[in-house]
Amino acid sequence: MAQPIPFHRPSITGAELDAVASVLRSGWLTTGPRVKELEAAVVAYVSPPPEAVAERNHHGETGPLHGVAVSSCTAALHLALIAAGVGEGDEVVTSPYTFVSTGETILYLGARPVFVDVERGTKNLDPRLLPAAITPRTRAIVTVSMAGHPCRAAEIASIAHHHKLPVIEDAAHSLTAQIWGVPVGSQADITCFSFYATKGVTAGEGGMAVTAHAPWAERMRRLSLHGLSAAAWSRYDEGGWWEYDVTELGYKYNMTDMQAALALAQMRRADAMRARREAIAGRYQGALKDVVGTPTVEDGLRHAWHLYQIAVPPREGRPGRTALARALREDGIGTSVHFKPLHLFPWYQERLGVRAGQYRVAETCYDETLSLPIWPDMTDADVDRVAERVRHHMGSAGD
Ligand SMILES: Cc1ncc(COP(=O)(O)O)c(C=O)c1O
Repeated sequence: MAQPIPFHRPSITGAELDAVASVLRSGWLTTGPRVKELEAAVVAYVSPPPEAVAERNHHGETGPLHGVAVSSCTAALHLALIAAGVGEGDEVVTSPYTFVSTGETILYLGARPVFVDVERGTKNLDPRLLPAAITPRTRAIVTVSMAGHPCRAAEIASIAHHHKLPVIEDAAHSLTAQIWGVPVGSQADITCFSFYATKGVTAGEGGMAVTAHAPWAERMRRLSLHGLSAAAWSRYDEGGWWEYDVTELGYKYNMTDMQAALALAQMRRADAMRARREAIAGRYQGALKDVVGTPTVEDGLRHAWHLYQIAVPPREGRPGRTALARALREDGIGTSVHFKPLHLFPWYQERLGVRAGQYRVAETCYDETLSLPIWPDMTDADVDRVAERVRHHMGSAGD
């Protein structure tokens, strides 16, 4: 049998190995100089080009971006919601078509996620449904750019501005995505990235909140380290001093220099890895577009291609999504499903009073969707084998 093709394998070169080893040799393992460097590298990467800045300011956003590195995107979302003022009894409008982090971080704060259905093509929150979900209790909007396809940021921002609500972007999938030449990272009031093991740029685990609002960045930074007035590394720095104050209830969400060094080495390869993902997506597209639904990219957008999701609508005489996933597993090919919508989990149903049938587009997307392997070190032969097996199971072998 041919070599198995896993759903994901991170792309690790000598640069990543050297970067982590050098931190191990340095004598400083936790939050330190590499974390600062990563924050600067991500901010530089996602900052809008100068010609786009005037427009950003025109929309009322201010100043340069600030990055706060943390232990996960979940931690970044949690801190972003706190910075945006979300608390007990508030409502936060968001998409049900997402990973649990988006919902649970709202619930951590005693606030309530209010779901808005998604668009069929992108699985992103449908802005046309947003105004009806906003009530006097709404305190923020959390958007998600599914699979790396940017959400409708401009339309969402204009509705949010009208209601004076902050927008938090769950950009776990979309570092390296762009909207009309502007990187994802400055369109929302706070953008949260993930460096989880499968992401386009990985630290093993890690995340970052990026915002143009300096006081919010400062508060998220303090909250990420117990709410202390002085971070550990400045306390132990040359000339540092042990003394600190506790300013408010904080968390242990800081990132280590080992993680930051890994992510920094990956940042240098971010565009090359995204380009390879895009080439894989193109190869799948050519081979599969006549047998399954394949993703499309809307005008002016650059897809991060974190996921390559096909749609397998139930049809007489053909395997459905789950049967196809099983058959590919028999072939040694890993796949996954992103995501089961949050309102379908009994735990969410009991707490929020939501039910199946309430967000129909999200449910249809979930029933049909299957994520195929798309990782930078896949060879063209790997991609062709996955595509050939999909065609075979869908009854189109030898076309
Ligand atoms: C849409 C979305 N949001 C948030 C997260 C959480 O990211 P992390 O694992 O870095 O906390 C994920 C993780 O996969 C995700 O897919």
